[in-house]
Amino acid sequence: MSGRPAKYDLVSIEDLETSDIERIFDLADIFTEALEAGRSSAVASGLIMATLFYEPSTRTRLSFESAMHRLGGSVISSADMHASSAAKGESLADTVRVVSTYADMIVVRHPYDGAARIAAEYAAVPVINAGDGSREHPTQTLCDLYVLRRKKGHLKGLTVALCGDLKFGRTVHSLIYALARFGANIVAVPYGGMDVPEYVLARVAEESNYGLSTVTIDELKSLAGGLDALYLTPSKPHQMALFTGEMPLERLPAVRPPALLDAFYVTRLQRERFTSGEPSQSAYGHFDARALRTSRTQEAVVMHPLPRTDELDYELDSDPRAVYFEQAAAGVPVRMALIAWMLEQATPPHRRSRLEPPIKFKSEVTPRCPNPSCIGRHEGNYLRPRFRLGRSPNRSLLMLRCDYCERELRVEFVGHTRSRRYYRFDESLYGFVRQWIEEGTLAVFDTVKEAEECDYEPYRRGPQREIMNAPEIARACDSLADQIVADAAEMTSLVIVGVISRGALLAIRLRDLIEARTGFRPPCAALDVCGRETCLITIEGPEQFAVDDRTVVLVDDVINSGWTVQCAMTALWQRGRPAAVKLAVLIDRGHRALPIRPNYIGRSIPTARSERVQVRLTSASEVEKRRAVDRVVLYSMVDALGPIKETEGA
Ligand code: NCD
Repeated sequence: MSGRPAKYDLVSIEDLETSDIERIFDLADIFTEALEAGRSSAVASGLIMATLFYEPSTRTRLSFESAMHRLGGSVISSADMHASSAAKGESLADTVRVVSTYADMIVVRHPYDGAARIAAEYAAVPVINAGDGSREHPTQTLCDLYVLRRKKGHLKGLTVALCGDLKFGRTVHSLIYALARFGANIVAVPYGGMDVPEYVLARVAEESNYGLSTVTIDELKSLAGGLDALYLTPSKPHQMALFTGEMPLERLPAVRPPALLDAFYVTRLQRERFTSGEPSQSAYGHFDARALRTSRTQEAVVMHPLPRTDELDYELDSDPRAVYFEQAAAGVPVRMALIAWMLEQATPPHRRSRLEPPIKFKSEVTPRCPNPSCIGRHEGNYLRPRFRLGRSPNRSLLMLRCDYCERELRVEFVGHTRSRRYYRFDESLYGFVRQWIEEGTLAVFDTVKEAEECDYEPYRRGPQREIMNAPEIARACDSLADQIVADAAEMTSLVIVGVISRGALLAIRLRDLIEARTGFRPPCAALDVCGRETCLITIEGPEQFAVDDRTVVLVDDVINSGWTVQCAMTALWQRGRPAAVKLAVLIDRGHRALPIRPNYIGRSIPTARSERVQVRLTSASEVEKRRAVDRVVLYSMVDALGPIKETEGA
């Protein structure tokens, strides 16, 4: 039996040194020859590979499995994770921990960005990323580079046009990192606005001091005029500069004639990753032999990671420059080479992290990753949001970078967890923020409302005054309950939904008051619009909280701008089709940015725009502890925060 491999995870193509890739290619040459000659290998004899595929796959899974068999090893597979415990809600972490006791290495494909990193963190055996969401697909890149090098003899200095869905195409992202490292020139040709994401560009710029040029599909089609018209290659190696026509020629850095186009790398529209606003297949480009007819493209090979849909003409298949089936075929020897190379590594790599440790947040002020496909948002039971300071062009912006998926989040408001003050972030706070990160006292908020919900106060505020006390609040609630009951045509169709957090406390009070008046206890739910996910939580009501054909009374404490109410309305309509949605507010302050009018008002208290009304309500548990007392306070915002934008005040 071969020795078990060291814990060497391949999550990103950047986990491999250039020399590692070269060694893998040498091994791949040997295995290609052996396969052609029908010679077998026993490199992995007695070892077991587990393939866990949470997403469809043909080439990647089968070529990994074939590679392992060809090396004398064996494979256990969960090709359809819907038929595994994942369907029962098992976490990725638990699955890989268990599978680590059954296999010597794990190959994982997953729909969420950053999933392979998590699998690698929790598995005791090496993990190979076979594609994680739209992030990376490093072993496809090994196949791509291997074929490209075989066709062109080298990688350095090649010019590769990446065409298609460069936004969600994970093969493209890994390929960009690798081509940048090997010194190839990259021309991005996104179809329909599917541009290379900012975080990918930022990474190549930062790590490889590399910039890629972008041309539109129309510009590419006009290649008959030669690439010179499109871009110029500065003498600085591996850097492309797009000639936009805005910069006078003499100011451009010294240029040498552009290279020929050596390869087109075409990708399909990754429809399964769409969120909204992405192009339709019909608006997507179609690549055919015409692109190869110009003097500068006639030597180019056409690559595609496959599967293709409608973007690549079948007529190209017989053209010797079409190499996509060779890329797929290379899957076996290249993956054999990767496994054999992993077995050569006696010890795991000693990578010193260049990154500072993640920022420690207290749970109530932890930011949320903006990427809906981030693994951290889907495996939240055990994965705490993890952020580091992001890349900011200067100190006037505070960016946080999600550690799981690399997406960045712009922070508008920062707070200090001990003083419980919040501030609008500006350059003057940068030093403090760094200090608070070190102390573990940084809080971040999207909106003023969010800061207030967490009981933070503005750094500077005008005098605060109480405008309602507990008996007045109780009377306003009574008035609301009376109005709702008087208005209800049929009590049994009524449901109450409170916007978290004060609106939800009010909703429970109103539900009790309505029950005291009518004997009917309406179902009650809390709606979280500014938390991790917009979600509806049923409060001691029936399991299925239906809004269809019901009259929903949506309860909030104060309307500041109306944005929260609008989000809540959208969330309700996504949930079903209510007969009506009526809005009940404890305090109407008289103005709002959106044309939203409450149906039921506890009390009208006209206030100025710069003033904030803050409602403090006692929850049942606080009553027991005799802590807080109901009150409504008014204060005005001054300087340090600047004017509050409508969306921020929410
Ligand atoms: C790619 C993938 O899964 O990302 N396929 C593959 O592994 N060869 C490309 C794709 O699905 O478009």
